[in-house]
Amino acid sequence: MTPDESTHGMWSNRWLFVLAAAGSAVGLGNIWKFPYIAGENGGGVFVVAYLFCVALVGIPVMVAEVLIGRQGRQSPINSMRLLVQRSEGSQAWTLIGWAGVVAGFLILSFYSVIAGWGLYYIGELASGGFVGVDGNTATQALAELHSNPILMSVFHTVFMGITIFIVARGVVSGLERAIRWLMPLLFVLLIVLLGYGIASGGFAEGFDFMFALRWDALSFDGLLVALGHAAFTLSIGMGAIMAYGAYVPRSVSITRTVITIAMLDTVVALIAGLAIFSIVFANGLEPGSGPGLMFVTVPRAFGQMSLGALFGGIFFILVSFAAITSAISLTEPAIAFLVEEYNASRSRVAVSLGVACWLLGLASVFSFNVWSDVYVVGEKTVFDSIDYLTANIMLPLGAFFIALFAGYVLPRGTVMSQLGITSESAMAIWTVGLKVIAPLGVLAVFLYTIWPSG
Ligand code: PFF
Repeated sequence: MTPDESTHGMWSNRWLFVLAAAGSAVGLGNIWKFPYIAGENGGGVFVVAYLFCVALVGIPVMVAEVLIGRQGRQSPINSMRLLVQRSEGSQAWTLIGWAGVVAGFLILSFYSVIAGWGLYYIGELASGGFVGVDGNTATQALAELHSNPILMSVFHTVFMGITIFIVARGVVSGLERAIRWLMPLLFVLLIVLLGYGIASGGFAEGFDFMFALRWDALSFDGLLVALGHAAFTLSIGMGAIMAYGAYVPRSVSITRTVITIAMLDTVVALIAGLAIFSIVFANGLEPGSGPGLMFVTVPRAFGQMSLGALFGGIFFILVSFAAITSAISLTEPAIAFLVEEYNASRSRVAVSLGVACWLLGLASVFSFNVWSDVYVVGEKTVFDSIDYLTANIMLPLGAFFIALFAGYVLPRGTVMSQLGITSESAMAIWTVGLKVIAPLGVLAVFLYTIWPSG
């Protein structure tokens, strides 16, 4: 190994890193979550708030993660260990890496369950199961899936199996090969759906809903939801991007690449939102229907349209592709670490991790049926608790400490050489972003979300 390469493999070129990181970022967050939280928080003003959060907090933290990964060239835990040693910082900073491994494992366990619903819906829509259904029937269909632990487990197993199959084959023959296919297809499917949305006749209304600035709808809550979502959707705060950063060739410009990734992620969320709302409005349905938007309102809208079975099937294929490329990134911090630590084969590590994560995922499956009245904290089921713990606590805290570490502990020279910064003014932008704006922004969301009434 030459000193500036990772033992796990390297991305073949800049575009493969862009596609891999965009694949991680573009996921259920963009297609399932973004449209409904935009719907709940007033549309246009929320979109603007979200764009600001991506630019001011998301991009700086993502730059920091890629930089740390590329400097350390190992799993997030070992990269942090190395950088802490070199900068003579406290060993406690390596907790960022450990927390990331745990968060990735926890997120994957329930992400696989929801993505499994997406897989199930491909067949349901494509076979015409939603043609002409009314609101009650559509709600009932999701309730039936939820009440069937066996069916949910089957699709959870299929999704986890696909993820582990890809991951086990390694960075180049597994991740890269899957990403080379899935990402371009994902963009094509998205454009096809947007075209379908435009043809549906609801585009003008959908566009107005997403982009018209209704200032009275702007709330402090909405602003904080936007910031929290910016972190989740960019996959920052848990080391997934740090792990991918370790495989980035030295010649790649981190800042330029991260901006491209963030823009791709945002464009996908906006196009998905436009397509979904066009279809929803064309059928006179409610945009602000919450988490059920994708699994109830959207299938119902497709069911009322010509070629709805075909395009509905395509929609859920798109959802599944997006979820797979995110899921593989969730495992990378843990897999890279276990391979380094135990010198074990990647495929063996991947299978063991997959089995453990699959088992934990069963607890999320049962949260919707046999364990629906088992509460971990307050009124939260296992599924709700893991979702809350990771998205609202672990990722924001991770992003906060990554910003602080990069801003205060990493030597100035390392940052300047990694980012190719030569001027004082460019360094000042980095310093203010990482030392002040990003940590304060994340701290605000964090305190707000864990506040008892929040
Ligand atoms: N960014 C993904 C999404 O928007 O669905 C979720 C995610 C993937 C979060 C990977 C964190 C992560 F490491």
